[in-house]
Amino acid sequence: MDSKVHILDHPLLQHKLTILRDERTGVKEFREIVAEIATLECYEATRDLPLEDIEVKTPVASGTFKTLAGKKLAIVPILRAGLGMVDGILSLIPSAKVGHIGLYRDPETLEPVEYYCKMPGDIAERDVIVLDPMLATGGSAVAAIQFLKNYECKNIKLMNILAAPEGIEAVHKAHPDVDIYVAGVDEKLNDHGYIVPGLGDAGDRIFGTK
Ligand code: PRP
Ligand code: URA
Repeated sequence: MDSKVHILDHPLLQHKLTILRDERTGVKEFREIVAEIATLECYEATRDLPLEDIEVKTPVASGTFKTLAGKKLAIVPILRAGLGMVDGILSLIPSAKVGHIGLYRDPETLEPVEYYCKMPGDIAERDVIVLDPMLATGGSAVAAIQFLKNYECKNIKLMNILAAPEGIEAVHKAHPDVDIYVAGVDEKLNDHGYIVPGLGDAGDRIFGTK
């Protein structure tokens, strides 16, 4: 099955992404907007959730209405920057479980290095959304998804805020079954593996480190 890239170009998302790009945007606003974008993207990424019928009595009459069929979901942020998206998703899906994968990009090789992992015990039975604001070379996302597949996860989606074509291609090649949800796709990577024009280092801007 070929993966699809869902470029979510809703005006609210485009507006908020531009604020993230602006170098004058401070930590507090950056963090808030990352969470808001995650909420808006979640709306699209959960469009295929199954529904079932239930009987409900309104103050006026009884009827048959739709409710979520109770599919088990998990979100898995890639540390650190993916943490910034967690609350935005949980505001819509409060019952989702949260796993964590710690990966950082070696600044020389740009290869992902794993340093932490903690998953819900029943992760293999859950549909999973991997969270990371940035998809640059794709190394981190490809490794995180492989990690989840090693845990027997079968239905995985990737949610980013901003991507480079190189990252999309890498995920597509390594994991053709994984759909990508993203608010913007930029032109290219620079020699340091940063997205151009991008928004800078997402982790540093969320947590105020440098
Ligand atoms: C950033 C970002 C992604 C990764 C993307 O994390 O949050 O995880 O880079 O790059 P890639 O697609 O080339 O792998 P970073 O390694 O800077 O770690 P941090 O979140 O701890 O800052
Ligand atoms: N990681 C980031 O945080 N920003 C980039 O542009 C690339 C990787």
